[in-house]
Amino acid sequence: MTNETTYGFDTLQIHAGARPDPATGSRQTPIYQSTAFVFRDADHAAALFNLQEVGYIYSRLTNPTVAVLQERIATLEGGVGAVCCSSGHAAQIMALFPLMQPGRNVVVSTRLYGGSITQFSQTIKRFGWGAKFVDFDDLDAVKAAIDDDTRAVFCESIANPGGYITDLPAISALSDEAGLPLIVDNTSASAYLCRPIEHGATLVVNSTTKVLTGNGTVTGGCVVDSGKFDWSASDKFPSLSAPEPAYHGLKFHETFGPLAFTFHGIAYVSAFMSSIL
Ligand SMILES: Cc1ncc(COP(=O)(O)O)c(C=O)c1O
Repeated sequence: MTNETTYGFDTLQIHAGARPDPATGSRQTPIYQSTAFVFRDADHAAALFNLQEVGYIYSRLTNPTVAVLQERIATLEGGVGAVCCSSGHAAQIMALFPLMQPGRNVVVSTRLYGGSITQFSQTIKRFGWGAKFVDFDDLDAVKAAIDDDTRAVFCESIANPGGYITDLPAISALSDEAGLPLIVDNTSASAYLCRPIEHGATLVVNSTTKVLTGNGTVTGGCVVDSGKFDWSASDKFPSLSAPEPAYHGLKFHETFGPLAFTFHGIAYVSAFMSSIL
């Protein structure tokens, strides 16, 4: 018999990921405004740098305050892990970076936030990535747009502006069939109204600048990992399935299983995305 309590959304949005501060007993999570963290000894440092132990090194990578936010949003979205960064747009690049390479493309809904239209139609070209814009109501057109160079499918759950609702189960059936991850921007809906992972999303991005901030004071972004995608099923995602030179040949998917994307995001992609603090 298990004794586990299941908490509702209202409780989780206040408490998930947080514990009273062990040093002071503070009920609320303190803002750990520190760039760096000390090691117990050289072995501890080596274990952290080799990703053999979870802990804190440097706030660009991980920070105890941000870690609470990451766990909270992952819990609300029903994912296994999350990585936070400085804006919603940074989160979108962070979601794509491990999946894309020059010459690859992402199939994108035409119904997106205007800034995202620009990011996909213009900005990502600088990385040598392409975007194919398709009406996601037209499932045949979505299917036809996916080609051998496609590495992801991207849409908003409820589009900004317009409040247009995407048929996530139908789109995820197509991305599954093609062996591709579905990335859903859940900013407008929020996890309170829609949990895209329950409808087949692989990754969920949020601009925490909006509903999640609550009072319009801080920009931020988050990528939530469903933990459900098999990054090794094809050779399309070498950043996650093949040996990583920056980590002495470590294979993220083989080593971290469902947390591969999250660990890759924290250890590698955050190297060029500023942290939220
Ligand atoms: C649906 C949606 N996605 C992404 C973004 C970008 O987020 P940020 O402004 O935090 O970069 C916005 C911003 O308005 C948005 O409305």
